[in-house]
Amino acid sequence: MRNSKIAVLATGMTLTMALAACSGGGAGSGGNGSDGETGAAAAEGGLIGVSMPTETSERWIADGAAVEKGLTDAGYEVSLQFAGDDIPTQSQQIDQMITQGVDLLVIAAIDGTALSGQLDAAAAAGIPVISYDRLIRDSENVDFYVTFDNEEVGVQQATSLLVGLGILNEDGSEGDATGPFNVELFAGSLDDNNAHFFWKGAMDTLQPYIDEGTLVVKSGQTDIEQAATLRWSQETAQKRMEDLLTAAYSDGSKVDGVLSPFDGISRGVITALQNAGYGPGIDAGMPIISGQDAEIASVKLIADGVQYSTIFKDTRKLADQAVVTAEAYLAGEEPEANDTETYDNGVKVVPSYLLESDIVYADNIQPLLVDSGYYTTEQVESGQS
Ligand code: BGC
Repeated sequence: MRNSKIAVLATGMTLTMALAACSGGGAGSGGNGSDGETGAAAAEGGLIGVSMPTETSERWIADGAAVEKGLTDAGYEVSLQFAGDDIPTQSQQIDQMITQGVDLLVIAAIDGTALSGQLDAAAAAGIPVISYDRLIRDSENVDFYVTFDNEEVGVQQATSLLVGLGILNEDGSEGDATGPFNVELFAGSLDDNNAHFFWKGAMDTLQPYIDEGTLVVKSGQTDIEQAATLRWSQETAQKRMEDLLTAAYSDGSKVDGVLSPFDGISRGVITALQNAGYGPGIDAGMPIISGQDAEIASVKLIADGVQYSTIFKDTRKLADQAVVTAEAYLAGEEPEANDTETYDNGVKVVPSYLLESDIVYADNIQPLLVDSGYYTTEQVESGQS
């Protein structure tokens, strides 16, 4: 079994290396931008299961491609599966990976509380589990967590909203605007642990301005349960924005800003607002709207002055961190953590490696996203990768 795996691997590696040589390496090309530094570990081999939540959002496609490429470059065989945002499908896919005899699992959970059975089975088989981007909760069998500083992402989303409204300047100093501004708040999917961290970071930043009356949430919907968007769905967000406009803005008042935690949600909100006669762009009355993931369609909307901001989380770096962590486990070593306090999954504090994110505005698309090779100028202009 092991020998045949290695044979497949050797053929796969030649192919992968040939392909890697022709690849540009950014999000748009599906590569991870790795310069092949992990290739030296190729001798070890092994099969790694990579479970991603969905292919409907381009960030997870980029993550899947980057993790797969990083691991194959490092000499591993990879079983990569997407679960179509369906919880039973993800459970079954992970069950299958365990049955297949994977040596390690990398999992970005759909519902962070739904995988305890799979993780018990993995532990019983001696398979280390790396929680990828989203923390798996309620299990002692999560070995490591690679992610971004999720609370800081929420701070950045709220900060960009304040900057867009003119309450703050980009350098963090006080701006000239005093409001009051009407804002509405959106949160992510409550079964995703990250949604709570984003919300906390954002609300800690916005609350003082709400308390002093500079920001007014006219709908009154200021609890995460009211603001939540199941499965981060664009359609659900569009419908909620339509309902908010009907419920709180039929008196002719206008929405000035929307806290959005994800670019798909931002685009749903924008559609609802445009259908209601806002915009099309910020200069024609579209509210200031934040986002996350620097999805190419939203980057174009930012370049075109429709969406105000997004948060860039470089999936190439996260994938590289997952690869480094996997290599450490498979070499029998402890991976390096840079946070051993923040991520309590309900059973234990999971050792974590946190990466930094950046706020993208129209004026820094070029240095952050194009010069770094994440997207090409053509992709930004067309809004397609
Ligand atoms: C990720 C975000 C993403 C969201 C929706 C979260 O867990 O951290 O980057 O926008 O899921 O896919």
